[in-house]
Amino acid sequence: MKGIILAGGSGSRLQPLTKVTSKQLLPIYDKPMIFYPLNTLLQTGITEILIIIAPDHAGDFLKILGSGKEFGCKFTYEIQDHPGGLAEAFIIGKNFIDDDNVALILGDNLYEDDFSEAVKSFQSGGRVFAKKVTDAKRFGVVEFDAQNRAISIEEKPQTPKSDFAVTGFYIYDNSVVQKAQNLQPSPRGEIEITDINNLYLQAGQLDVAFVPGEWFDTGTFESMFQANVFERTRQMSKKT
Ligand code: TTP
Repeated sequence: MKGIILAGGSGSRLQPLTKVTSKQLLPIYDKPMIFYPLNTLLQTGITEILIIIAPDHAGDFLKILGSGKEFGCKFTYEIQDHPGGLAEAFIIGKNFIDDDNVALILGDNLYEDDFSEAVKSFQSGGRVFAKKVTDAKRFGVVEFDAQNRAISIEEKPQTPKSDFAVTGFYIYDNSVVQKAQNLQPSPRGEIEITDINNLYLQAGQLDVAFVPGEWFDTGTFESMFQANVFERTRQMSKKT
């Protein structure tokens, strides 16, 4: 299994901070934000990691992360020239992924959980991780039938059909590359990971698991603040 951290984007909701640096280099308590998703990947045993970054501040990522040796892994870097959507990770990462399966994590997502088992037990299809949220309109939202089986996923719906958001960690088999290449941009001009998830879902190949622990999408000041408080509390409780 290979890993991708998607750490491009424009970070417009964190302006003016993101005028001078990338969102994923901003601190969450005592570390740059990207260290958290990196650690989530490393915990699963993945050692080959592609980091996708925007052209601005690309050198700062290299400075902070280096070759990967320090983390016991190997980093490859690619530039995403424009934020064309999350699914672009599999097009940019085509050569890197090669014939392998791939786990994608968003560079601004912080998880409490260890996904080792989910990665080790993965065989084929797609596996996503949903979490109950209070602001489902911001996310891809899973619709369930009466037997609690996932039947559709809608990207940023006006009227969400549930409170369960698809979070920013995804595991796919190698067919994700082909699927991404065949996608058409959505009305907002992005190729959507929700479209990929729906392709797997319609083929009966999407496993929707749940996130038991805390999860933060730290793309807003409020969620970033909450992630800071969570991490501080976690570290303090380890010391006592
Ligand atoms: P978002 O938070 O959806 O987008 P953003 O980072 O551009 O922020 P904003 O909406 O405030 O302008 O992105 C989620 C993660 O995915 C984040 O780590 C950035 C990354 N991303 C890319 O790397 N490329 C992309 O094309 C997009 C849309 C996001």
